[in-house]
Amino acid sequence: MTNTGYEVRLARRAAGSGDELSAILSLVNAPGQITFSGGFPAPDIFPTAFVRDVVLEELGSSAPVALQYTPTEGLASLRSALAEWIHSGQGVSPSSLLVTSGGIEALQLLCRTLLDPGDRVLVEAPTYLGALTAFNGFEARIDTVAADEEGLDPAALADALASGPLPKLLYVIPDFQNPTGSWLSTSRRHEIVALARRHGLLIVEDVAYRELAFVPEDRPSLWSLAPDVVVQVGTFSKILFPGVRLGWATGPSSLIGHLTRAKQNSDQCAGGLGQWLAESYLRSGALGPQLTVARSTYAARWEAMAGGLAAHLGPEFSWTTPRGGFFTWVTGPPSLDTAALLPRAASLGVAYVPGAPFYPQRDVHNTLRIAFSATTPAEIAEGTRRLGLLLSTP
Ligand SMILES: Cc1ncc(COP(=O)(O)O)c(C=O)c1O
Repeated sequence: MTNTGYEVRLARRAAGSGDELSAILSLVNAPGQITFSGGFPAPDIFPTAFVRDVVLEELGSSAPVALQYTPTEGLASLRSALAEWIHSGQGVSPSSLLVTSGGIEALQLLCRTLLDPGDRVLVEAPTYLGALTAFNGFEARIDTVAADEEGLDPAALADALASGPLPKLLYVIPDFQNPTGSWLSTSRRHEIVALARRHGLLIVEDVAYRELAFVPEDRPSLWSLAPDVVVQVGTFSKILFPGVRLGWATGPSSLIGHLTRAKQNSDQCAGGLGQWLAESYLRSGALGPQLTVARSTYAARWEAMAGGLAAHLGPEFSWTTPRGGFFTWVTGPPSLDTAALLPRAASLGVAYVPGAPFYPQRDVHNTLRIAFSATTPAEIAEGTRRLGLLLSTP
C-alpha cells in the first residue's frame, strides 16, 4: 500500500501533526550546519567523566537495580533524592513525585489522564511546540493567553477564564520560556496562582530551564506558592544530559497516582540505567557545581549571540533579551516568511526554527526561534553572519 493509501486510515489525532520536532532532532551534529534550532544543552559541558567513573566503579555492584525494570513511579531511592533536591526544605513527599521518560512524557501523561477531545487548554502564545503537539494529539481545544517579556499576563488570563468553559489546565513555562526566553515576574506568579485557586484551575508548570538563570535570583515556583493547584513538570535534559531521557512530575498526590496509572499504558517505567545515573549524580553533590558552569557557559553564549544579532540583523528586526535558558525570539518585518526561507538557510549552513509551530493556529510567519546553547561563541559569530545574509536578501 502506498503512503497515500495510509493517509485515509489515519486516526483524527494523527492527521495534521507536524514534523517540526523530528526536523529539529535530525540536525543534531549535522555536518556543515551551525545549529541554532534545537533546545540542545552544550555538549562540551556534559559530565562525561562523572558518568565514566561511576559506571566503572559502581555499576558492577548496582547492576541488579540499574539494569533491571523499575517500579512504574521510579526507583524509590531516586524519588527521595529528587524530592530533596527539587523542593529542598519544603517537605515534598516522594509519593507526590513520578519519574518519567523526559519532561515530554510527563506532559503526555497529563494529557492522557485529563483530556477528552474538545476539552479546553490554555497556553501562552507562543509556547513550547512539544506541548502543543501533545495537546493536539489528544484533540484539545487550545486557547492562547497573551504574554510579554514579564511572562503570562494575569489580566489576559482573567479574561480567558471569564469566557468559555473552565479549561482543564493552563500550561505555563515561567522561567526562561521556550521559545521567547521570558521570565515570569514574582508579582505575576502570585496573581496567577490566586486566579487558579479562585477558578479551580489546574496549572501545569514546566520548569525545564528554571535552574539556568545567568544571574540567579529567587523567584518562587508556582508549585511552591500553591501546591494544591499546580503540577510541576521537570527534566534532567537541560541540566544533566538528554541522553538519559528522564524527567518528573510532582503535584497533588491523587493526580500523581492517576499519572502513574497512565504510565502503565505508556512505557511502564523509565529506563533504570538513567535513573541510577541521575540518582548517583544527585547524591554525589556534583549538580551544584555543574549548574554554576552551565549558567556561566550559557550567559557567555547569549552575550555572543546578542553581539552577533546586533552586528548582522537590520533595524527591521527585534529580539528578546533572555536572562537565562537557551533561547531568543526574533521578529522580522510583517512580510517575512521564516518557514519559506528554510531551504536557503540549509544551503547557507545555518539552522533555526520558524515561529509558526509555536502558535496553536500556526498563523504567525515573521518570527523565528534561535537557541544559543549548543554552539560556541565562534560558531555563533559565523552563524549570525550567515543568518544576516539570509535575512537581508529578499
Ligand atoms: C519547555 C520544555 N519542556 C519540556 C521539554 C522536554 O524535554 P525532555 O522531554 O527532553 O525532558 C523541553 C525540551 O525542549 C522544553 O523546552
